[in-house]
Amino acid sequence: MNKQTIDDIQVAGKRVLVREDLNTPQDGSGAITDDRRIRAALPTLKALIEKGAKVIVAAHLGRPKGEANPKFTLAPVSQRLSELLGRPVIFVEDILADNTPARLAALKDGEIALLQNVRYYPGEEKNDPAFAEKLASFADVFVMDAFGASHRAHASTEGVAHHLPAVAGYLMQKEIDFLSGALENPGRPFVAILGGAKVKDKIGVVKNLLSKVDTLIIGGGMAYTFLKAQGKEIGLSLLAEDYLEECKSVLVQGAGKILLPVDAKIVDKFPLGLSEEDRKALQVGVVSTDAIPADREGVDIGPLTIAKFSAAVKGAKTVVWNGPMGVFEDEEFATGTRAIAQAVADSNSLSIIGGGDSAAAIEQLGFADKVSHISTGGGASLEFLEGKQLPGVVALLDK
Ligand code: 3PG
Repeated sequence: MNKQTIDDIQVAGKRVLVREDLNTPQDGSGAITDDRRIRAALPTLKALIEKGAKVIVAAHLGRPKGEANPKFTLAPVSQRLSELLGRPVIFVEDILADNTPARLAALKDGEIALLQNVRYYPGEEKNDPAFAEKLASFADVFVMDAFGASHRAHASTEGVAHHLPAVAGYLMQKEIDFLSGALENPGRPFVAILGGAKVKDKIGVVKNLLSKVDTLIIGGGMAYTFLKAQGKEIGLSLLAEDYLEECKSVLVQGAGKILLPVDAKIVDKFPLGLSEEDRKALQVGVVSTDAIPADREGVDIGPLTIAKFSAAVKGAKTVVWNGPMGVFEDEEFATGTRAIAQAVADSNSLSIIGGGDSAAAIEQLGFADKVSHISTGGGASLEFLEGKQLPGVVALLDK
């Protein structure tokens, strides 16, 4: 990446504020159910500790809307981070408490502290310069490592970078290098696979990728609006009416490059949230996407589509995948997503998995070590693929 990193600056003996994305899913009791983001932060934090920095970590959890709320405390994350680092992590419960500056000033070289959820404070999401300055006052240097939050122009992701020398951490560097490498200099054929329910979330990505890829595969709920745009009847399947015209023009522009489902698994009722009895009574079938009955909806790609998509992935040199192929939360409709995960894992491509559901599918299948990179960013990786500038990256020092 064309930004300075922690290897370009002196950190020994310095107070280093590091923004990480530690937004980790928890169950109702506050137990962490997926610590991937905490693990992904370790290389940067360990390097800073080893280099003798006084490390102060800032992070968010959930969306507490500017108020302290124990449901969103980072205390369990602090505990888990301490276990993974094998050393104590000082947890600072209130960033604005009178004694916080003194507690942080007392850190010794190689010690680490984690600040409470920055989103407890209204200044964070407003990117309030006073809150950014407060955070900056704790440190001599700022390290931005929270790729997953870099699409947010918040005080701890963007504002603070205007008050301190600001460089990238290793995770940030790795994410940008993988994603920009794929977009700017891909091995060919370059195949992108996009899925998920909402056209709204992916249409910008579809448009940006069209000029860069050799093949663009569209599956998941969003595919039905494209099928409708081709003039097909889609029954009760998801339709984003507002995007129909845009999808039509994308199909014209992408003629010869875009692959859509040719068959679909259909049901008479959306399978999630049904009573046990209704789930058992669900009518499931497979039809051509030219013949979806008016009273059925598509919830997964069918076997012919799996074969077609997998064949395209097989010959690829670069694959970027974001979004599931169906309602994968229900095992019966996870077949398409699993098959695509398998195809990506089996390919000899440089493969990048966007965060969220496709990352979860790859992990669940045990294919994590068979792909080149699983992004820790959900929204951030999508915005990157859309070609947008990420404010948390723009604010860093250029090389
Ligand atoms: C994420 O989970 O994608 C990031 O942590 C950003 O969270 P946000 O969407 O609440 O800003």
